[in-house]
Amino acid sequence: MIEVDGLFSGAGLLKSKLNMKTPCFASYSPNIAEIEKIAKKYSKNKNIVVIGNGGSVNSFDYYISALKTEKNVFIVKTMEPDFLYDIRKKCNKNNTVVIAISKSGNTVGVIESLLYFIDYKNIIIITEKENSALKKIQEAYKFDFIEHPNIGGRYSGFTPSGLLPAAIAGINIRKLWQGAKKAYQKYSNKKPNDAIKIASMLYKLDRKGYSEIFMPIYSSRLMGSDIIITQLIHESVGKKQKGQTLLACFAPESQHHTNQRFFGGKKNMVACFVVVDKNEKNKEKINVPKKLENIKLGNSILKELGKNTYSDALKAEFIGTLKDARRNKIPNIVIHLNKVNEETVGEYLAFWHYAIVYLCILNNVNPFDQPEVDYSKKISLEIRRNHISGEK
Ligand code: PA5
Repeated sequence: MIEVDGLFSGAGLLKSKLNMKTPCFASYSPNIAEIEKIAKKYSKNKNIVVIGNGGSVNSFDYYISALKTEKNVFIVKTMEPDFLYDIRKKCNKNNTVVIAISKSGNTVGVIESLLYFIDYKNIIIITEKENSALKKIQEAYKFDFIEHPNIGGRYSGFTPSGLLPAAIAGINIRKLWQGAKKAYQKYSNKKPNDAIKIASMLYKLDRKGYSEIFMPIYSSRLMGSDIIITQLIHESVGKKQKGQTLLACFAPESQHHTNQRFFGGKKNMVACFVVVDKNEKNKEKINVPKKLENIKLGNSILKELGKNTYSDALKAEFIGTLKDARRNKIPNIVIHLNKVNEETVGEYLAFWHYAIVYLCILNNVNPFDQPEVDYSKKISLEIRRNHISGEK
């Protein structure tokens, strides 16, 4: 379950604007049985190499850092030579499954990286049906093919792009999808809900000059959500000179550097804290050995730390920064997840899908395009074609 805390007075603001049709990601249902069937075929492989860029792999990246797997997972988002070399060294071609994902099938980096592993025994291609370069490679080698639905990469976490590698990694994709499905139903509701609430708060704050969002994430398991949420905000909202910049950081570690920027730097940063209320396994108190009890620590002594569980200590770190933000009158939003499991991991991503669409509607920009990312890609392809080595 997710809850968003923060000053909210914007229901009316959205009412007139939310006459939208159901977004493509929410009207799509993955064929879970089919995905599980394909996953089973490859599940004996010890290593999983997933090749893709941006939205094609960032949801899976989030799943794999939040949920457990016994497989060795490598996510390839770069053609950096030594990175590729190291993966090849670690992954025997007979017990590795390589999954190349590209909706368009024409993302050059994906093709280059796939070529590096082209002699591997198990290769799966996820792309649209169209005659793209990737589709032609798939046909030439008769690799297994899974069709990519017409849903843009950053919203494709609950299509085979996100779900197939997750299923091969042993993640329970039924539960993941169950969480997402519930969230899609909940947040599609035009009445005020948490996705509308956060979009509305961010929009209003942006207009007041809060052009940056500081997102301290107080959970190592949720830390991997940073890239996909950053992508969703930047690539969907950052158009027509609009949209905020997201700085997601691992907390409480970030308190030792970025709190200085947050409290002391430009006053254009809203905080969006992410906290998990329940840690399921370790409920232990901090054990302070007797002989250390009287060691001084600030105004305290170590004995007093022993009153707390590790969970209390983490909470104290969060509350400290939250209270300081309130004291400094810095706007703040708190996102609570009650725990981290397959369902909440699915729910949390689906929550952001809707929140971003609402934020785009408020900003009057298209949530699903990205016109400004293409030109540099064209230049890079041209440089390769002419083999302009040493180009600066
Ligand atoms: O979200 C998006 O649309 C992008 O990040 C794409 O996923 C990314 O550019 C990769 O595109 P493709 O899946 O066509 O290779």
